[in-house]
Amino acid sequence: MNQPKRYLITAALPYANGQKHIGHLAGAYLPADIYVRYLKAQKRDVVFVCGSDEHGTAIPIQATKEGTTPRAIIDKYHPLMEQNFKDLGIAFDIYHRTSDPLHHETAQAFFTQLNNQGDLEIKESEQYFDEEANSFLADRYIKGTCPNCGFDSAYGDQCERCGKSLSPDELINPVSTLSGKTPVKKNTRHWYLPLNRHEDFLRNWILKDHAQDWRSTVLGQCKSWIDGGLQPRAVTRDLDWGVKVPLPDAAGKVLYVWFDAPIGYISATKQWSLNTGKDWKPYWEDKDTKLVHFIGKDNIVFHCIIFPVMLKLHGNILPENVPANEFMNLEGDKMSTSRNWKLDMQDYITDFIQKENGGSQMADVLRYYLTQIAPETKDSEFTWKGFQDANNSELVSIFGNFVNRTFVLMHKLCQGKVPAYHTAVADELDTEVIAQIKQTAEKVSQLLEEYRFREALFEVINLARTGNQYMQKKEPWILVKSLTEKPELQKQIDNCLHICLQLTANLAILIHPFLPFTAAKMCHMMKVVDKMLDWENAGSMKLLSTGYTLRAPELLFRKIEDSEIMEQIEKLNAASLKKEEGSQSAAAAEQPAITVKPEIVFDDFAKIDLKVGKIVAAEKVEKADKLLKLSVDLGFETRTIVSGIAMHFKPEDIVGKQVTVVTNLAPRKMRGIESNGMILMAEDNGKLHFINPETDINPGSGVS
Ligand code: 2FM
Ligand code: ZN
Repeated sequence: MNQPKRYLITAALPYANGQKHIGHLAGAYLPADIYVRYLKAQKRDVVFVCGSDEHGTAIPIQATKEGTTPRAIIDKYHPLMEQNFKDLGIAFDIYHRTSDPLHHETAQAFFTQLNNQGDLEIKESEQYFDEEANSFLADRYIKGTCPNCGFDSAYGDQCERCGKSLSPDELINPVSTLSGKTPVKKNTRHWYLPLNRHEDFLRNWILKDHAQDWRSTVLGQCKSWIDGGLQPRAVTRDLDWGVKVPLPDAAGKVLYVWFDAPIGYISATKQWSLNTGKDWKPYWEDKDTKLVHFIGKDNIVFHCIIFPVMLKLHGNILPENVPANEFMNLEGDKMSTSRNWKLDMQDYITDFIQKENGGSQMADVLRYYLTQIAPETKDSEFTWKGFQDANNSELVSIFGNFVNRTFVLMHKLCQGKVPAYHTAVADELDTEVIAQIKQTAEKVSQLLEEYRFREALFEVINLARTGNQYMQKKEPWILVKSLTEKPELQKQIDNCLHICLQLTANLAILIHPFLPFTAAKMCHMMKVVDKMLDWENAGSMKLLSTGYTLRAPELLFRKIEDSEIMEQIEKLNAASLKKEEGSQSAAAAEQPAITVKPEIVFDDFAKIDLKVGKIVAAEKVEKADKLLKLSVDLGFETRTIVSGIAMHFKPEDIVGKQVTVVTNLAPRKMRGIESNGMILMAEDNGKLHFINPETDINPGSGVS
């Protein structure tokens, strides 16, 4: 595959109407940043653009809520979001804003060109009008009863209770939110983008040309839009907040926010060009540019269907890929700003980054966990326990531990200098590790090129794991004890530390796109400049020269305590409860529905063989966040049981516990491990408890 001459990478422009949460971060900004850092480490020509989306009804609605003006809202949230991204290591080349005059001019010129080319249609239609406010009503400004579920406060574009997309005409008893009055229908003229004219182009371009390289979730959504029949889409609105329609007969009309926002990518590139003196045009016009849009799945239709049609008509290049992510849930529920079930970037920054000295390591912890659970193929789930585990069991215990041990041993056994590598005494283990470093570098590159970020990250951690295993097998701390009798052992110690140090340098290169702050800290410890992080160095065993003195190690990650996690969970529950109290009785909200299963006869119950067992060993199952592999002593034998309790218990905490086991459940394979039974658990408010006898009794005792 030929490498493109340049890259233009975009991340969805977030609305400047409030704090953005970590679901937004994981959906678009973090994967885009990882991809860009990787491309830049390869010295490719890349521009990474983003900015605030400052139009649409979301802004004036928030202004009403906060009792202020739309301008004040965007001026409040734009800098906040920009700073949040910086704090979390998202390194845009330009973070622009759509209220900027450069954007207004750019969007207007775009519209004018399409209109002059005859690519737009004008249509008259009847729309709701508030006579008291003397204003046409955007869909969000009309409320009424949902025809689907009967909710009496559904919006003109969507019912927030049942989630159904609506049009204002479908609402029963519509009311204007501006005046509280029933709106009337009035004629209005609008400009439409006739998507129906472009069906063949879209079908070929998406469903044929990109059938192999776009994510199946993205292709699926596109196919259903195209198969559903494409309709002309209005690209103007009767509103006074937005980019004015640049025509003399269009007073009171603005461009639809979804028409102007993606053009924001172009105006941002123009602003970057003004800042840097580089030409912006080839990035949007030269076919040898690879354009990639990073977005969440709710933006697919705009980036894969509407904007590409606009780009084609305007004479621009089309995106090569749109690696949209699915959604990330939080502690078992959809993230939601309206229900306050979320973790805002700002809150994470306040609680974990600003509180501690050198807290940017905590930015990397969030980046790590969000990438590990990236919703690339399906919705995923953020849990605080999972976050803690990712940090404590992987970043601290595997990655940080390896790097730290390497440095400590080098200082202890090699006078703080990079020891020589003695080929004559190299063994199979050494060559295997060297080969694995090379293979990992290649694999990570390939996965990143394919936007498979979570797998790529797994490979990097796996390399650190290999490092630990290698060191464990070599045991240089044991070899050193026999040095007086066998001085030749020093060469083996040297080889081990030499390899571990080169491996550490490779880890810095490979982890850099994911965890930039950590990579920088590692460079500091190794006394190398950032240039070492160039991707062409990945796989090399000559990154640190023999005899070179390195700094003393600093811990890369710290352990996250249970108390910190509990605090966050309590905070989340308290915030959402507070929100809920406004709308419904808190008591009702606290009472989970208790369901009772249908009656069974005694014989059904008697078929189940229940016995008391004792957990004698427990370990995490690789690549399965939720599973623990347990060895359970049942008196007559010890069984392997795989249990979905890893989010609730640490393996080391449950060894020795007595449990109740269903022993005659048919065996089941989970992640390649055969599970022979099931541990009974009670659940109370999301917390799991073992069912066990009051005092320890003999394993194998029957339960009935
Ligand atoms: O969904 C959103 O948050 C939109 N503001 C995304 C716009 S992306 C692009 F078109 F600018
Ligand atoms: Zn509804």
